[in-house]
Amino acid sequence: MKMKINCCLIGKGNVGSCLLELIEEKKEALKHYYDLEIGLIAIFEFDGALINQEGLDLSEIRKLGKDFRESQYWKSDITAIDYIPKLNLDICIETTPTNPKTGEPALSHIIKAIEHNIDVIASNKGPFYLKYKEIHKLANKNHCIVKYEATVASCVPTLSMKQNLLANEIISIRAILNGTSNYILSRMSSEGVDFSLALKEAQELGYAEADPTLDIEGYDAAGKIVILANEILHWDLTIDDVKINGISKITPQAIDLAKSDGFVIKHLAIAENNRLIVEPRIIEKDSPLNISGTLNVIEFQTKRAGPIVIMGRGAGGYEAASAILNDLVSIKLSRQKT
Ligand SMILES: NC(=O)c1ccc[n+]([C@@H]2O[C@H](COP(=O)([O-])OP(=O)(O)OC[C@H]3O[C@@H](n4cnc5c(N)ncnc54)[C@H](OP(=O)(O)O)[C@@H]3O)[C@@H](O)[C@H]2O)c1
Repeated sequence: MKMKINCCLIGKGNVGSCLLELIEEKKEALKHYYDLEIGLIAIFEFDGALINQEGLDLSEIRKLGKDFRESQYWKSDITAIDYIPKLNLDICIETTPTNPKTGEPALSHIIKAIEHNIDVIASNKGPFYLKYKEIHKLANKNHCIVKYEATVASCVPTLSMKQNLLANEIISIRAILNGTSNYILSRMSSEGVDFSLALKEAQELGYAEADPTLDIEGYDAAGKIVILANEILHWDLTIDDVKINGISKITPQAIDLAKSDGFVIKHLAIAENNRLIVEPRIIEKDSPLNISGTLNVIEFQTKRAGPIVIMGRGAGGYEAASAILNDLVSIKLSRQKT
């Protein structure tokens, strides 16, 4: 593959902006270690795009901050869907917000890119827990690489575990994949506060959305366990196949009862015995899954070598951006071999 890779970014929000910063920060290292130069030729927002086929000057765009629409390269009222086929792109990076029911607008962006033989990197999980099979089928047909490490536990390398355990069969997965619900349960357990108070505290600290439903009712974790199971266990499921129960009905009394017997209650996402479940479960206090705060943890149960556990920050702009940049290097290295 050529050294310079032409990319577009769709969605200049938290993750997208952190990615621009990381691309600049790592420019020399990427060139030196991977022979990789990233030419960002378009940045799409919902109301237009910055476009320069020669490559946008990222330091100039970052200096403009929220006023990036004042750049000479800004074109109003154009959409990624219309422009993806017109640009000479190698990779399309998708970082728009998820519509949990339709996966849009990301799903259409991803399909459009693949239809035009463009590789894809996404941080938006909706398309993958709704249409995993369809996306991969189309990508295989068009010889495209599609990467989405940031969709599950952000920078924690969960999906890429497959590569590192090729000959070590993974038979099941248990994980904590939502930092908000884990923070709430941790506070209920350590401080004895009730659910609504712990939620209010999480919202004040910016760990929970104004509408926390997707997190506390388990839908967010369910989407992530679908992607993990499909990728790692080679299943073929969607979010409709997950049995989901949230944490909003857990009482301080239930937590105390578990505690008195040496257990804790955690909101686990589980893939085992051909079933996907997200629900509160009682686990031993000294289990590696007993992590506190907003962290994520994933336990891969292997057939011949017992459990392998990884843990880390499952959210954050730089965390997700670092996973995207990693996907980018990985595509470059894969293309180099072919
Ligand atoms: N933040 C994290 O910690 C994290 C971690 C892992 C994965 N993710 C995923 O990454 C994605 C982005 O997250 P984020 O935190 O960066 O969200 P964000 O701050 O809301 O950024 C999303 C950006 O996409 C823009 N956008 C909306 N519709 C668009 C369209 N049709 N075309 C082009 N741009 C559009 C938004 O513009 P407006 O705001 O002007 O509407 C916004 O600038 C989400 O799917 C999220 O689930 C986030």
